[in-house]
Amino acid sequence: MSASASEPVPVPELPGGVDPAWLPPAVFRPLGSRRTLISGTGPLVDTVHGEVAYACARFGGRVARGVRAPGVSYDVVLEVGEGGDRDALGDEGFALVRAGGVTRVTAGGQAGLLYGLFHLVRLGEAAFRGERARETHRPALALRMLDHWDNVAVHPVMGQVERGYAGGSLFWRDGLARSTPEELARVRWYGRLLAACGVNAVAVNNVNVHEAEARLLTDRVGEVAAIADALRPYGIRTHLSVSFAAPMGLGGLPTADPLHEAVTDWWAETTGRVYAAIPDFGGYVVKADSEGQPGPFAYGRSHADGANLLAGALAPYGGTVHWRAFVYDHRQDWRDRSTDRARAAYDHFAPLDGEFAPNAVLQVKHGPLDFQVREPLSPVIGAMPGTRLAVEIQATQEYTGQQRHACWLGPMWSEALRFRPEGEGRPSVGELARGGGLVAVSNAGDDPFWTGHPLAQANLYTVGRLAWRPDADPRAVLREWIELSFVPEETAGPERLRGGLHAVLDGSWRTYEKYTAPLGVGFMVQPGHHYGPSVDGYEYSPWGTYHFADRDGVGVDRSRATGTGFAGQYAKPWAEVYESPGTCPDELLLFFHHVPYGHVLHSGETVIQHIYDTHFEGVAEAEEARRVWAGLVGLVDPARHARVAERYEEQVRGAREWRDHINTYFFRKSGVPDARGRRIH
Ligand code: GCU
Repeated sequence: MSASASEPVPVPELPGGVDPAWLPPAVFRPLGSRRTLISGTGPLVDTVHGEVAYACARFGGRVARGVRAPGVSYDVVLEVGEGGDRDALGDEGFALVRAGGVTRVTAGGQAGLLYGLFHLVRLGEAAFRGERARETHRPALALRMLDHWDNVAVHPVMGQVERGYAGGSLFWRDGLARSTPEELARVRWYGRLLAACGVNAVAVNNVNVHEAEARLLTDRVGEVAAIADALRPYGIRTHLSVSFAAPMGLGGLPTADPLHEAVTDWWAETTGRVYAAIPDFGGYVVKADSEGQPGPFAYGRSHADGANLLAGALAPYGGTVHWRAFVYDHRQDWRDRSTDRARAAYDHFAPLDGEFAPNAVLQVKHGPLDFQVREPLSPVIGAMPGTRLAVEIQATQEYTGQQRHACWLGPMWSEALRFRPEGEGRPSVGELARGGGLVAVSNAGDDPFWTGHPLAQANLYTVGRLAWRPDADPRAVLREWIELSFVPEETAGPERLRGGLHAVLDGSWRTYEKYTAPLGVGFMVQPGHHYGPSVDGYEYSPWGTYHFADRDGVGVDRSRATGTGFAGQYAKPWAEVYESPGTCPDELLLFFHHVPYGHVLHSGETVIQHIYDTHFEGVAEAEEARRVWAGLVGLVDPARHARVAERYEEQVRGAREWRDHINTYFFRKSGVPDARGRRIH
């Protein structure tokens, strides 16, 4: 916390060798070369003061705090407004205007000043030229969160970070919280990067709660408090994943029954102690009755009973419980054709609409399965108007190339957020998530580039910006990221650099989709680690993820008429659109229907020819991206360039492997030759 009001909080030092991501010092030149007056009090204003002082120290400007010095004029005024501004802008909003040579940011509250500052940084020189009519900015979603699936101790199978592809955890190392000054500076830098794209909450431990993670709630809460201290100067609240069975494992009670008084008391007391250590603690994240985690089902109670138990403990302090809807039978028999994993979340949760406490948020994965490269929207999202919903997306690229492949997910997330579950004229997903927010599984770790693949930083940045504005054009977000990270100053050849970055990233999600599982059918990954192709890897497994390919056709019949009935979980018009192969969009055809290989798509191609074509195209696009990237040498920082170039070698190798597995598999199953006569192995 800040030493005292009106003292600038110094910008943390970036540990040696770590990439500055989208905050290279040069982005502060326009602001740092001017005279800025800051007014307002409070710790986040102190952070803003520190940021401006840092910029001025580098670029020759000046900063004053509080009252205007007589005879001095300022180019920039950063102020926390009062009364009317506060009401109109909210704590996190701000207004920007430029008149009479002065650029003025008036924030509704301290946090708004921080976001206003980073808005000026994004605008660069444009913020200080000409006149600018008053514009207001406030986040569409109040909660903009990253969930870290970080294990406190190295897990024998999952390692330090579950589904982490960026080295170790930023918060934990070998069973302990990171605590050296350098490590904590790195955590603060992480907070700084997150604030600069609009994130305001972080859950610091894995949703799969092992023993060490469980104890963060009790005797080890001090370690969480230290992380919270490091993130707080950037407006980020800390949240914790907890085990539903904590009253037994930690409290020694014989039960964790949510309706048992001793259990309620235990959570109330424990939560009180958490708030004593972390007064602005955000709340709990819970994975219950999911993939082996304990939950209320053991006591014959509902998920609303479970969530409300924790909501009750958090309510006196303003905390929130994020209760995950990722509940399904992971011990399914593949011979049982009546069970459909895609149905599970809706079947469990939709009937509970209206039963959740006001401070309970149901956190729903954007698709009904599990972060595949293409899924329809989860039908839960349109079915619970009486529940606060958060949409969960996955920045860590578990199923989308594991940060060895470049795959910018902005367009996929944007499609989900702009989707209207009840059709045109009705609310979008982004609007439906207002009560709960947007949550992304983080892709960051202690890797020098933060995200392993330097281009995966774009995914992290996009999470924050889409959470701020779910209806934003994702390409405009990518452009911002490129400008900040790669072209902070007018350098030689910026157009070629911009063009090259857009060329390799804009369509990278679709490229990845082309060379992996076709037409929305999903999975086909190697079991366990989920990298690389294995068409039948999960086909006879208990996990409920099947494609049902045989000699005649492929896909899952999820229609009401002849299939699992999943299509009927949607409202109109989607229930009807998805019900028939004639109206179902091509890209989701095999998610909803089992069709013959000769079925003709809306595109005019047969399914089998589409599979062959897209797999050849996907590889060609990956090879082209590798070529474009190679041509950017000399325009990009050498270490970044080399790391990406190395990853492209693996991407091209991996894409070819996918192409040959998928094409060969379907050629052998169907016996249909490629109409274009290419070699299928
Ligand atoms: C996926 C992932 C798991 C993770 C789970 C979850 O199944 O493979 O590692 O725990 O999602 O979201 O809880």
